[in-house]
Amino acid sequence: MSLSLERLGRYNPEKPLENRLTDMGPRHYWEYFPPVIKNNYGKWAYHDILEPGVMVHVSETGDKVFTVRCGAARFMTVELVREICEIADKHCDGYVRFTTRNNIEFMVDSSDKLEALKKDLASRKFVSGSFKFPIGGTGAGVTNIVHTQGFIHCHTPATDASSMVKSVADELFDYFTGMTLPAKVRVSMACCLNMCGAVHCSDIAMLGYHRKPPIIDHEIISKVCEIPLAITACPVGAISPDKTKDGGKTVKIKGERCMFCGNCYTMCQALPLADKEGDGVTILAGGKISNRISEPKFSKVVVPWLPNNFPRFPEVVETVKKIINAYANDANKYERLGDWAERIGWEKFFEKTGLEFTEHLLDDYRLAYDTWRTSTQFKYTDAAWAVSKAAGGIE
Ligand code: HEM
Ligand code: HEM
Ligand code: SF4
Ligand code: SF4
Repeated sequence: MSLSLERLGRYNPEKPLENRLTDMGPRHYWEYFPPVIKNNYGKWAYHDILEPGVMVHVSETGDKVFTVRCGAARFMTVELVREICEIADKHCDGYVRFTTRNNIEFMVDSSDKLEALKKDLASRKFVSGSFKFPIGGTGAGVTNIVHTQGFIHCHTPATDASSMVKSVADELFDYFTGMTLPAKVRVSMACCLNMCGAVHCSDIAMLGYHRKPPIIDHEIISKVCEIPLAITACPVGAISPDKTKDGGKTVKIKGERCMFCGNCYTMCQALPLADKEGDGVTILAGGKISNRISEPKFSKVVVPWLPNNFPRFPEVVETVKKIINAYANDANKYERLGDWAERIGWEKFFEKTGLEFTEHLLDDYRLAYDTWRTSTQFKYTDAAWAVSKAAGGIE
């Protein structure tokens, strides 16, 4: 009894707890496995990538399953989900799955069915011209961009998610449908530094960033906020209790301490900080989550701020392209972007990408010391001198 149809008409607002179903959890995934997956569960021998977006898995029993991976916008209408179902019904006996990066995977059990499926997918476009189901996202390329809500739904963003992702993905489309890079490049996006998703652990990340402290609404703050929560939300102790002229409770914020994280606004709606000119995009690079060869890494800030130039974010697109091109030209096979940057040295990374090094990139938060250079080993580049200048060292 968990399908919505079975529950239709059972809700009575007069008796909200009557007929109430709860704690049933998700459906068991076994119910939705294609037969070939069920029959060979735990028996897979090897796999191959036949071409970008197309894989074959071969079982110990000799069975094969062909998978076609397609890009998706993540935010989608029920109409589009119905179209996905129609394709699954037509080619895959009604089965389909979504990946951890929100791509769609259609599976078939023979190469004849595979060709028909691929042709059908490639033929489908939106009226405006974009592919509905571009095939790709496998191997050493750029797959889907993990992203967040932006102005579509959240109240704390400093930029938009869907529009930026569309702009960057348009530019990187050939990397989605090809496998021409030294290793996979994971691009991700978050619209504020709550970092919902994977920006802190991706090869390239776009992150929404504020540059002005919150504005305090003294009139309502004591009515709508738990003031101690707002005070303890601040990572740098910039907020302290205060009194209004007529003796009411409020807070004050030391502007020169605040680094615009927006945490206090998450706790207290009387402290908004979004700002048209102040808000923009920070670019990070060099993170990874796998343990292949090197251990997982956090991504590091390489561009402090780019403008929110809606709707196509040309500066963001240009910067992402610069980083990927330098990496593609210079890295060794299997080297992830962070592996490459660490091998050549970050001063060389800045030289090769042409990105500017400024004082904003120097860590100054608590454990910052370990991120500075406690060695005489460095390469003479303009970027290395820029680090020295930014740190207040020799000119
Ligand atoms: C008040 C702030 C927030 C609101 C209103 C909010 C709301 C939402 C909504 C409506 C979704 C979409 C759910 C769906 O797909 O049906 C979502 C997804 C998600 N949220 Fe939040 N959320 C908030 C804060 C956060 C925070 C702070 C985190 C992380 C610490 C977070 C992590 C996520 C993740 C990982 C997803 C899934 C994205 C995906 O799978 O595509 N959210 N959130
Ligand atoms: C010191 C703190 C943190 C560490 C050490 C850390 C480390 C990691 C690592 C190693 C992974 C990869 C896990 C895997 O291989 O499956 C990961 C993924 C993830 N992290 Fe964090 N993380 C930290 C903080 C955060 C924060 C603050 C957030 C959100 C507010 C967050 C959200 C996520 C999400 C949503 C993923 C999944 C990404 C994906 O599936 O692609 N993490 N984190
Ligand atoms: S990253 Fe920030 S702004 Fe974006 S959805 Fe998450 S909480 Fe909201
Ligand atoms: S925005 Fe962040 S740093 Fe600034 S006062 Fe609020 S919590 Fe503190």
